[in-house]
Amino acid sequence: MCIRITGTGRSLPENFMTNDDLAEIVDTSDEWIKSRVGIERRYIVKNETTTSMAADAALKAIENAGVSPLDIDLIIVASVTNDKVTPSTACQVQDIIGAENAMAFDLNSACSGFVVALNTAMAYFKAGIYKKALLIGAETLSKIVDWSDRGTCVLFGDGAGAAIAEADESVMTGLVQGTDGIRGKALDMDGMPINNPFVKNEISGSGLFMDGQAVFKFAVKIVPKCVNKLCEDNNIDKSDIKYYVLHQANSRIIQTVAKRLGEPEEKFPVNVHKYGNTSGASVPILLDELNRDGKLVKGDKIILCGFGGGLSWGAALIEW
Ligand code: UT7
Repeated sequence: MCIRITGTGRSLPENFMTNDDLAEIVDTSDEWIKSRVGIERRYIVKNETTTSMAADAALKAIENAGVSPLDIDLIIVASVTNDKVTPSTACQVQDIIGAENAMAFDLNSACSGFVVALNTAMAYFKAGIYKKALLIGAETLSKIVDWSDRGTCVLFGDGAGAAIAEADESVMTGLVQGTDGIRGKALDMDGMPINNPFVKNEISGSGLFMDGQAVFKFAVKIVPKCVNKLCEDNNIDKSDIKYYVLHQANSRIIQTVAKRLGEPEEKFPVNVHKYGNTSGASVPILLDELNRDGKLVKGDKIILCGFGGGLSWGAALIEW
């Protein structure tokens, strides 16, 4: 019981980059990227920001849900690429969309961020604190990737996805989430160094580091574990699940997870070829595509699952 998604939206930058465009910057090829990761292109901002895309996706989700911004009592933005330290992206979105009655905050759980935001809303709903949440995953990863590292710069893209979630006692819901900070260095990036009257540090120019194989192995192990636990906890069979909406990092991860779960690949929608890895934005962008393509029917059971930096994971069972 407790959470139902009633509207979704997405926002992508105007500008996109193909694999051939990237091959002009680093030593890579369309063939390598397509066969190893499944990506054909990704959107990269020129004029958009994390905040502008978050607000755009939010307004679309609000319209899709048919709610007023004034009815929203909680806004959570999941992001690792906020434009400002303060105000939070969520507070800036609150201002842009006029959601005066909401409590707004950001959450950093990298690629699991949107699902962890959904799970956070679920907990608030269960506690009876809030009833209508705007949940957003928004990223401008192009700000933080190392554009000289072919191992990472070909993977990521910019974008935002949003959902309106409402408290609803009549639906089945469940969550599983966790972190393994001990192995966190597999996906690593420094923040601002200390610079004060006592300590002087150079600002280093290096971007995001990823031990791709370590993260790959982690992903194909943790996602089936989350799915099995959700099914067990909620006493349902995998055959009851219509779609597994997984974080879009690599089409090979999704295929391996499908195989390990013994589930048909058709139940695992994929859009990584169009957007690349948009971190916390990938799950809500995919959900919005499914919703707007009319692929979700009232009563459908769906499992959402994010995994990545932290290392972290979050999965939710929801009923449409
Ligand atoms: O969103 C957060 C979660 N992230 C993930 O889930 C990502 C998980 N990891 C992966 O998806 C994969 O590990 C990658 C796509 C990142 C890499 O694929 P891989 O099959 O693990 O490749 P690799 O890192 O083992 O590299 C294989 C080879 C290396 O060359 P050598 O040493 O065999 O000569 C790399 O230098 O491919 C080379 N390589 C490239 N070649 C052409 C690495 N990147 C590229 C590139 N173009 N862009």
